[in-house]
Amino acid sequence: MKFREKLFKATEAPKQEPVASHRENITDPETVRLLNSFDRYVNREFREREQMSFSDELDEIEIRNALYELRNTYGTGFHDLDSVSLAEEERQTVLAYHAGLSERQKLGEASTERLTEKNLQQSLRDIGTFRKLLMNIENDWGRSFFVFLRHREMKENRFIHIEEEFGGTDILRIEQFFTFSEEARMQLLQKYPELAEVYKRFHIDQFPNLQKRLQEAEQSLDDQTREHPEEIRNLLKGLHSTNEAIDSGAIDDLIGIKPEKVERNVDMRGLEQQYGHEQFPYQGTPYEFIRQFLKELNLSESDVLYDLGCGYGRIPLYGAMTTPAQYRGIEIVPERVAEAYEVKSKFKLDNVKFRQGNVLEQNYADGSVFFLFNPFTHETLEKVGEQLKELARTKKIRVVSLGPSTSYFQSQDWLRPVESGSKERPWSLTIFESV
Ligand SMILES: C[S@@+](CC[C@H](N)C(=O)[O-])C[C@H]1O[C@@H](n2cnc3c(N)ncnc32)[C@H](O)[C@@H]1O
Repeated sequence: MKFREKLFKATEAPKQEPVASHRENITDPETVRLLNSFDRYVNREFREREQMSFSDELDEIEIRNALYELRNTYGTGFHDLDSVSLAEEERQTVLAYHAGLSERQKLGEASTERLTEKNLQQSLRDIGTFRKLLMNIENDWGRSFFVFLRHREMKENRFIHIEEEFGGTDILRIEQFFTFSEEARMQLLQKYPELAEVYKRFHIDQFPNLQKRLQEAEQSLDDQTREHPEEIRNLLKGLHSTNEAIDSGAIDDLIGIKPEKVERNVDMRGLEQQYGHEQFPYQGTPYEFIRQFLKELNLSESDVLYDLGCGYGRIPLYGAMTTPAQYRGIEIVPERVAEAYEVKSKFKLDNVKFRQGNVLEQNYADGSVFFLFNPFTHETLEKVGEQLKELARTKKIRVVSLGPSTSYFQSQDWLRPVESGSKERPWSLTIFESV
C-alpha cells in the first residue's frame, strides 16, 4: 500500500461496531451493573441530587460519558439525559462505552512492547487511541473528584479547602495526583474509600502506563518522519491536490506539532507581565480550510505570505511544503514558535521563517498576502489594519481573514472581497484585495 493511502486509512475515524445488545446475553457483572443503573436513572429513581449516593453519582458520570460517546461515535444529535428513553441505540451506547472502559484496562495492562517497529499508520492510530483514553480518564477523575468533595462537604457540613486537606496540592488534576509517592497515594485511598471506588471504577491506575505508551507511540512516529521527511512532504503535496477529508490532528502528529503538550507549559502570567493585555489563547485553522484558501490564492515564488499570530505555524508549514511561495509567521508565545521552528528544521524548509514577538513591534512590509485567524484584541487588530492600509498604498496586497476578525476587514474601504466562485468558504473565511 502506498504511503499516502496508508495515511488516509489511518486518519479515517475507526468505525465502532455496536456491541451485541441483548441483555440476556450479558453476563459481565460490571456491564450488568451499568445497565441497571442506566435503567434506574432513566426511570428517575435517583434523579434528585439529594437522594443520590456517591455511587449513584458515579453511575451518572458513566452514563453521561456513554451518551457523549454515542454522539461522537454515531454522530447522532443526541439529547440530554432528561429526554432519554430506553431506546435500543442508547442501550448499545452504554455497552459500547463499557467496552471502551475495558479497552483502557487492556491497553494499560498490556506489556510495553517497543513500538518502533510499527508502521506510520499504526503509530497514528495508537496515538489517537491513547490520547482519547487518557483524556477520558482525566475527565472522569476530575468530575468524580468534584462529586466526592461535594458529598464530603455535605456529610461534614463544612467547606473543604483542597490545598489544606491534601497537603498543598491541587489534586483535581490527575498528573498532580500521580506525582504523589505511591505510598502517599495509597494512604489517601485508604483514608477516603470513595476515592478508592473512583480509582477502581474508572481504571485510573492505568493512567501512568497509558501515558508511557503514548510517549512511545509519539517517539516512534517522530523517528519515522525524521527518517522519511521527503515522503511526508510528498504525502502533503498529494493531499493538497485532492479534496479528500483531512484529519487536522493527524497532520499535526505527522509533522510533529503537539499543542496539547506545549500548551501546558505556556506561562500566561509571564506573557501578560511582558506584553500586557493581548489575546494569547490558541486555536488552529483546520488544514482543510488552509488547503482551500491556498488553492484560491494560487501563490507564486515571488509571493510572501505572513501569518500574523501564527500559533504553531500550521499555515506557513503546510504552505511551505505544498506551494512555491515564501512564508513568514509572527507569534507572541515563544513556546509555540519553538515548536514551529522544530518542524521547519526537521523538514529543512528554506521558504519559511518564524519570528517571536508582539506583532505591534514587527516589520512585515515585505509581505504580499496576510493571513489572520482572529488573532488579536480589537485594539491590536485596528493598529495592524492601519499598518496594512499604509502598505497597500505602496503595492497591491491581499488579506485572508478567518473568524470574527473578518467583520473588521469588511468595514475597510481600502479592501474589497474577492468572489469565491462556486465553492462556499467556511467560518466567514474571506479573501480581500486592496483597491
Ligand atoms: C487563533 S490563533 C491562530 C493561529 C494560527 N494563525 C492558525 O490559524 O492556525 C491566534 C494566535 O495569535 C497569537 N497572538 C495574539 N496576539 C498577538 C500579538 N499581539 N502578536 C503576535 N501574536 C499574537 C496568539 O498567541 C495565538 O497563537
